[in-house]
Amino acid sequence: MNRREFIKTTAIAGAGWLILPTGVRAGQSAPSNKLNIALIGVGGRGLAHYDSLVGENVVALCDINEKRFPDALKRFPNAKTYVDWRKCLDHKGLDAVVCCTTDHTHAFIANWSLNRSLHVYMEKPLAISVEEARVVRANWLTKKTKLATQVGMQRHAIQNFNRVRELIRDGVIGELKAGYAWGNRQIRRTSYLPAKGRPPEGFHFDLWLGPSPDHPYNPDYFSSSSGRNCLQWNMYWDFGVGQIGDMGSHTMDLLWNAVDATLPTSAEAKGEPFNPDVTPVKCESHFEHPANNWRGPIRVSWYQGGVMPISPKPYVDLKKIDHGAMFKGAKGYVICDFESRIVLPFGDNADFTYYASRKKEAVLPPLGHFQQQWFDACKDPSRKTACDFEYSSNMIEQMLLGLVAYRVGKKIEYDGVNGKVTNCQEANDLLSRKYRSGWTLNG
Ligand SMILES: NC(=O)c1ccc[n+]([C@@H]2O[C@H](COP(=O)([O-])OP(=O)(O)OC[C@H]3O[C@@H](n4cnc5c(N)ncnc54)[C@H](O)[C@@H]3O)[C@@H](O)[C@H]2O)c1
Repeated sequence: MNRREFIKTTAIAGAGWLILPTGVRAGQSAPSNKLNIALIGVGGRGLAHYDSLVGENVVALCDINEKRFPDALKRFPNAKTYVDWRKCLDHKGLDAVVCCTTDHTHAFIANWSLNRSLHVYMEKPLAISVEEARVVRANWLTKKTKLATQVGMQRHAIQNFNRVRELIRDGVIGELKAGYAWGNRQIRRTSYLPAKGRPPEGFHFDLWLGPSPDHPYNPDYFSSSSGRNCLQWNMYWDFGVGQIGDMGSHTMDLLWNAVDATLPTSAEAKGEPFNPDVTPVKCESHFEHPANNWRGPIRVSWYQGGVMPISPKPYVDLKKIDHGAMFKGAKGYVICDFESRIVLPFGDNADFTYYASRKKEAVLPPLGHFQQQWFDACKDPSRKTACDFEYSSNMIEQMLLGLVAYRVGKKIEYDGVNGKVTNCQEANDLLSRKYRSGWTLNG
């Protein structure tokens, strides 16, 4: 059983309530076997976590918008409130953090939490620069036997993820050659918003900016409905990475789960003209990945904003799948969305004699409840989570390298061991981003 299959198998065991042997405590400090949790970012996406959090002790709530607290306190009446996550992480007796803040703070909060020996559930994307992804991964790899991590790619629990993986691994399309993922969300902006009005009372805009460069306040960054407000700010370079961090995190996960890749050896990309304020809507990026222990080298591609891979047959209209993935093998294609898949055998030899479908007992078990998988791993870190900080940082680092290649406009060669582009100094300069003074990525 390889690592991914192991995770899926152990995950099912972790789906229900965990019974620990006498003397083993759940959190580091919770004698009741409940975790002491800080929820950072309590509105918007934070609300989606309330129901699963009520089974634990939510002891701290942190939001830069104090208006979020009264409602949250109704659900978690014993929590202390904070407006600055750096202070929140020093809350005494904390075991774990669930973080639903803006993308430009994710890697910071991940690192600071790990450095304080806290388990972390981080909303996607884990990072918005290559350097951020690498620092979080390096940090977590030193703590992986003690701490549990999960990135909020909860679609991973849809059973279709297992089915697609089985088809690829079992060779339904022969030897895997390439994978393509795409997302067709298109939210166009032209430039950072001009100064408009003043932040309402209790709204700490300077803390919202956090490590990112200074920008004037404008209420339009915060004008969307709950859980969709990220679509107001995630396309600006200083606050996010557009579709890559948005639906790209979910959709590349559908592909990533099936190919067992780590870091690419090259990246190339093209898209609409570069805008220094806003990430591209229309863009495609391509990556070369080395062989692993079950397949040869493959090419992985990401398409967004209306550009699409070429359909293997004109009668298959890929554009009808808003967010999907396709796998090309020596004997055909698998095409899928989050919930379903089709197999398209191809060529004279694609007669299925080479393919043996799995016996019932070898079918990958359901992952169970995605957040519960993390709670269970917090209480017993020998349990695995599906989207831990190694799996997720590799995936986002690849996607972010595509944005770097887009910016320099040439194919870049990547040394993933050292995190260096070997053929373009300008690209190396774009692997990291600049922070406002007073903010430390790995504090
Ligand atoms: N997994 C998913 O399916 C999914 C769905 C929606 C959003 N998200 C992710 O959730 C995150 C939040 O998205 P949203 O639409 O809820 O955004 P949002 O702008 O509504 O922010 C969510 C909450 O976090 C607070 N917040 C923002 N920055 C903060 C900071 N530095 N410290 C403390 N609190 C802070 C906001 O005031 C708000 O209450 C994004 O990273 C987004 O990618 C994930």
